Amino acid sequence: MRLKDKIALVTGAGGDIGSATAKRFAEEGATVILSDIKADGCEKVLQEIVGKGGKKGSIILADVTKEEDIVNMFNRIKQDYGRLDILAAIAGGDFENNVAFEDITSEKMSYNIDVNLKSTILCCREAAKIMMEQQYGKIINMSSLTYRGSSMQFTYAASKGGIFAFTRSAAMALGMYNITVNALAPALIEVGIIKNTLGPEMWEALRDDCASRYPMGRVGQPIDAANLVLFLASDEASFITGQVIELSGGARL
Ligand SMILES: NC(=O)c1ccc[n+]([C@@H]2O[C@H](COP(=O)([O-])OP(=O)(O)OC[C@H]3O[C@@H](n4cnc5c(N)ncnc54)[C@H](O)[C@@H]3O)[C@@H](O)[C@H]2O)c1
Repeated sequence: MRLKDKIALVTGAGGDIGSATAKRFAEEGATVILSDIKADGCEKVLQEIVGKGGKKGSIILADVTKEEDIVNMFNRIKQDYGRLDILAAIAGGDFENNVAFEDITSEKMSYNIDVNLKSTILCCREAAKIMMEQQYGKIINMSSLTYRGSSMQFTYAASKGGIFAFTRSAAMALGMYNITVNALAPALIEVGIIKNTLGPEMWEALRDDCASRYPMGRVGQPIDAANLVLFLASDEASFITGQVIELSGGARL
């Protein structure tokens, strides 16, 4: 068991990558705190974890665009568990997708920055307060391959690029407390939100186009991301910090 007796928080735990991560953590012995803005996905994941003999963690609902929700969530974790070993900050998404450059709005841009970048910074800050005290922690943030630039996701790419820079910066500050900070930068991962937004025809066209360009010949699956998060959360990755790992099947090499 690679996460035996560890306490882990997964934000975005009701989503596809977050739920796959929470389940992998539980399979490896962690007690998982599931957080999302909505309850239904988390409840399903918690039931599945317990049904498979995993430890019964808990659900904490929080809107990560609200600082108060984030602070309350970490206070509750401190109160209920007394420690936090792992933070997987996965909540996020693109709320200004496929908008023409000249149509960027301040409102949607702000939301993209808040839900992706600001939420990551605030979750890391609150997690670090607990982890610094215990001199142990593993933080895994969610960037995206769009950090390299995207011709369709301008403000999302900017927010994920911010996560790239912040992850490296946080690693510099927190290493002395035995806290590692890393991030994933996935290319296209097959998830419900993208499939539902595009509809079957457009999804298949996108998937096939990406698969033809990615050297590994396929798009990613949530489990690919979950396995990388698990590795970075484990003690096998103790000497890895400040890294933003491209999970891309070789895309854009
Ligand atoms: N799917 C991909 O191709 C891909 C690629 C690169 C990065 N990512 C990133 O991976 C992460 C997970 O995305 P996913 O693809 O699993 O999509 P998803 O929509 O299934 O998961 C995102 C989760 O975040 C939650 N969330 C959204 N806004 C929130 C808020 N304000 N407060 C709390 N929770 C909130 C959603 O409810 C959802 O459960 C996101 O950060 C996304 O940007 C995804």
